[in-house]
Amino acid sequence: MKPKILVTREVFDETLAYLAQACEVESNQNDAALTPEALRQRLRDKRGVMCCLTDRIDAALLAEAQQLKVVANIAVGYNNIDVAACTARGVMATNTPGVLDDSTADLAWALMLAAARRLTEVESYIRGGEWTGWRLKQWLGVDVHHATLGIVGMGRIGQVIARRAAGFDMRVVYHNRNRLAPDIEQRLNAAYVTKDELLRQSDFVVLQVPYSPETHHLIGAADLKRMKPTAILVNSTRGGVVDDAALVDALKAGTIRAAGLDVFENEPRLHPGFLGLRNVVLAPHVGSSTEATRRAMAMTAAKNLVAALAGATPPNLLNPESRATSHEPRT
Ligand code: GLV
Repeated sequence: MKPKILVTREVFDETLAYLAQACEVESNQNDAALTPEALRQRLRDKRGVMCCLTDRIDAALLAEAQQLKVVANIAVGYNNIDVAACTARGVMATNTPGVLDDSTADLAWALMLAAARRLTEVESYIRGGEWTGWRLKQWLGVDVHHATLGIVGMGRIGQVIARRAAGFDMRVVYHNRNRLAPDIEQRLNAAYVTKDELLRQSDFVVLQVPYSPETHHLIGAADLKRMKPTAILVNSTRGGVVDDAALVDALKAGTIRAAGLDVFENEPRLHPGFLGLRNVVLAPHVGSSTEATRRAMAMTAAKNLVAALAGATPPNLLNPESRATSHEPRT
């Protein structure tokens, strides 16, 4: 008998077809997020779940999902999953690293360029029919080329962002929990600095750290004050890494020049202050959202799930220790 699994949100046809070869699939293809209660009910008899960052997989939910063996997140970030609770219950947790690095780096660059050259402002100006002609001092932005780019979080995506900076003749500084090996620093032409030094030196600060209790409000009011008044902040990693209320205040006061944001605290609700500001470019958490990348992410998650249920080690297992605690089925 095929194991029962749940797919919590709409995925692609080929993802479902792949899953159906190995599993009995129940899927929520109307694409409204399941309520915690609906998720709880539907997971009661499931061996696997393919979920998204909008689904909270916590200890209470896991306690009732007695059959569950694997949680396959369709995302590289997994702060929606209590991995320790999964491990304690012998549930494998997986994510989708690698396949989204380039697309996510591209979006960070799009936000940087859009904020520097005021693209959303000029677009609404033109759409509003206000353009009466060319003027020398119209919509002056700042240069990206030859500026200093500071990357906080130099993992896979941070490194792709750094690579792209060479094409803009930028100087790159970075801060990371662990300093990179000298040959990687050399290849990326990136210099390691402290976080404060990075904030002081950079014209563009791009955040690429995962969200965790340690990175909660990594950028707050004091950090924004350390930045240049001409600097631009880009957050395309996770809401909560930036204190949004402090950022609204800083953008209003001109503490920094502008921001480009793809992620927010309390998504999909935004701090209302952002909507009234012109010096912020806003995107609805679409960092990895290209056709090819989202298909690749869904398929990566599906392969993780099927491998786990086949008794193999899934390629992107976050908690190898879970295999020691697993027993089947749990009662
Ligand atoms: C998207 O935000 C992801 O973590 O993949």
